[in-house]
Amino acid sequence: MTFRGVDKKYGDVFVIEDLNLNVLDEEFLVLVGPSGCGKTTALRMIAGLEEISRGTVAIGDRVVNDVAPKDRDIAMVFQNYALYPHMTVRENLEFGLRMRRTPDAEREARVAEAAELLGLASLLDRKPAQLSGGQRQRVALGRAIVRHPAVFLFDEPLSNLDAKLRVQMRAEIKRLQQRLKTTTVYVTHDQVEAMTMGSRIAVMHRGKIQQLGTPQEIYDRPENLFVASFVGTPPMNFFPATLDDGHAAASGFSLPIPSALAPRLPGGTKVILGIRPEDLVPSREEARGQSAPLPLVVDVVEPLGDALLVHGRAGEATVVGKLEPHQNPRVGERFDLWVELERMHVFDAATEERVKGDSPRLRE
Ligand SMILES: Nc1ncnc2c1ncn2[C@@H]1O[C@H](COP(=O)(O)OP(=O)(O)OP(=O)(O)O)[C@@H](O)[C@H]1O
Ligand SMILES: [Mg+2]
Repeated sequence: MTFRGVDKKYGDVFVIEDLNLNVLDEEFLVLVGPSGCGKTTALRMIAGLEEISRGTVAIGDRVVNDVAPKDRDIAMVFQNYALYPHMTVRENLEFGLRMRRTPDAEREARVAEAAELLGLASLLDRKPAQLSGGQRQRVALGRAIVRHPAVFLFDEPLSNLDAKLRVQMRAEIKRLQQRLKTTTVYVTHDQVEAMTMGSRIAVMHRGKIQQLGTPQEIYDRPENLFVASFVGTPPMNFFPATLDDGHAAASGFSLPIPSALAPRLPGGTKVILGIRPEDLVPSREEARGQSAPLPLVVDVVEPLGDALLVHGRAGEATVVGKLEPHQNPRVGERFDLWVELERMHVFDAATEERVKGDSPRLRE
């Protein structure tokens, strides 16, 4: 499934601009980004529900720009499961197959298979109103599965469920996809959902893909400030700073720049330092690799049980550190945290791009 140079415009406004993306066979690709970034629009272009302003969409080797939605061999699951309320679960599951005049035996076999796979076998004679939210969502999945499509499209299918059920269904969908191996494009605005479900993630912002990679690549090496700020809970800490003789001077403190980056950062360069909360530790001994202290004045402490979040100020910046539990930072007092320098991210303040130690591209 491939987007090549795809634009989507409404009037003069680009909603999607020059989208290039190759979804691999059998892959679970997650499109994630904030509200309005163009996720649903991208999905609807694959489904054929939205006209393409420029470029091509291909499923397999076939360009489908002019292929009718029903002939594209895709199945889409929406946020509101859109079940037929007057039909039983069985009738809901088989509806699409009846429309396509699938032979009876084949239809029954596929419904039985999907019901078995989704744990719906005992519910086939119920109406949607007699089901829980999770069961309804499973019926919606079942309707997609019975089609045996080449591609599954999911548009925020879990957002109507409560938090606990969402976590459970997240794993169920992932398990299901691993079993069926059907190429899947899954849209969500929830970065945790994206990280946990995707074999690869495409982070979108303002109609453009900002970064494409495995969840770990995106977390460890965000390519720009947007991706860095979007992925991670609590979010990465950011400190505007100016380079001066191998150090980054932020307001109220200064940190050494990792030596691999130093050649790329002449004095006077304005940067944004990015430090993930878990890359701050309470002592030099606990730091992995080279480290430097960050003077912190604590204002809030949040015990999570398995970790302790400490919020405070370093100079003029606010900081969150994620520490091991059973420590005792006191509100109003100083509690220095140590920055693991090799894990510090550096972004060019002007371009908002990551400064790469090994990349010849960024600076002369
Ligand atoms: N028919 C339309 N006419 C004009 N603008 C539209 C139309 N449909 C969508 N848009 C705009 O296109 C942009 C992308 O919309 P889209 O629905 O793809 O966002 P999304 O990423 O799915 O957001 P959400 O997470 O809120 O569902 C939005 O700014 C939206 O206002
Ligand atoms: Mg949407």
